[in-house]
Amino acid sequence: MEPRFERLRRALTPDYELQRELGQGGMGIVYLAREVALNRLVAIKVLRPELATARAMERFRREAQTLAQLRHPNIVAVYDWGDYDGPPYLVTEHLGKAKVDFKNCTAYLCGPHAMIQAAMRDLSLMGMPDDRIITTLEAHMKCGVGKCGHCYCGGKLICEEGPIFSLEEIKKFNILPGVDSLG
Ligand code: FES
Repeated sequence: MEPRFERLRRALTPDYELQRELGQGGMGIVYLAREVALNRLVAIKVLRPELATARAMERFRREAQTLAQLRHPNIVAVYDWGDYDGPPYLVTEHLGKAKVDFKNCTAYLCGPHAMIQAAMRDLSLMGMPDDRIITTLEAHMKCGVGKCGHCYCGGKLICEEGPIFSLEEIKKFNILPGVDSLG
């Protein structure tokens, strides 16, 4: 079977010249390409074919539509949308490498629990102060209204005092292995 990169490259020709893979996430793969007509670099995110169920494709389409409505300097612009042999792809602005001053910015993390945990650890190791790494501990809640006690940590009920906390506070809760023990 033709490798995925080649199949995508062929499907995007002649509108885009696929150059290389930029990275992979849980749901998709991002490639660098050149939009031929406008001679500009773009990023193309493709839903992983093995995860391209009808439900996942619908979610991907909604994500693209939502992103396409937004205009902000910190949000990539959506240029195009399509599909090749099934899985859809999304063409966006390519931002290149960002230079981040980790000591002077704040990160707000949301998403799957494991991803938040990994991002918190990485940001902390890259020098971001713990009081500037902010996330939600919603995943530790059950009733959400201070009744069940399920979210009791470090002398607090997460649902009543949060669920948004900084890494500085979270370390005192001792509930995120691999994060609590960071410097
Ligand atoms: S989630 Fe039940 S007490 Fe907080």
